[in-house]
Amino acid sequence: MSMYDDVEKILYSKESIQKRLQAVAKEMNALYSDADLPLLICNLKGAFMFLADLVRYLDFRHELDFIETSSYGAGTASSGDVRFLLDVGESITDRNVIIVEDIVDSGVTLSCILERFEARHARSVRVAALLNKPSRREIEVPIDFCGFVVPNEFVIGYGLDYDQQYRNLPFIGVLKPAVYQGS
Ligand code: IMP
Ligand code: MG
Repeated sequence: MSMYDDVEKILYSKESIQKRLQAVAKEMNALYSDADLPLLICNLKGAFMFLADLVRYLDFRHELDFIETSSYGAGTASSGDVRFLLDVGESITDRNVIIVEDIVDSGVTLSCILERFEARHARSVRVAALLNKPSRREIEVPIDFCGFVVPNEFVIGYGLDYDQQYRNLPFIGVLKPAVYQGS
């Protein structure tokens, strides 16, 4: 069976994602045009596709780095226990940092990342999130640049996974509940 058979519905097509990213990039370009070499930090793995497309619409000089966090097993809800599997390679002290995240759900992951970077005395820390699922929030977190607000459904594609699969879908869609019910 094709992975496309596991998609209940498409929320955002690849065209609508690109259109929205251009608008998000415009907001970022305006804010960072005079900034002192900002550092974009991509939270792997889910944000890899978002980062790759977003940076092509940015026109300010910047640097890139990557972190990897993990809080899920194979389920669809955060375990609340955030592990840092990969940390930034360079010092962020006095840097303007932009965290690039796939989706903010409970907010637990993002709040752990923010806490960690604020403790290291970044000059500023802002958040660019492809998706925001506010209905599930447990911890208040700031989102400075947001792609789309999504309903309380488990979404996949365009970098987002279920059990490490579906990241390559070119759109953002809802996973059929039958796929994870019983897992
Ligand atoms: P949070 O800590 O609950 O905010 O969850 C953040 C992480 O959980 C994200 O970086 C995603 O990797 C993952 N996640 C949350 N909701 C979804 C979803 O609907 N689809 C795929 N991954 C999700
Ligand atoms: Mg994930």
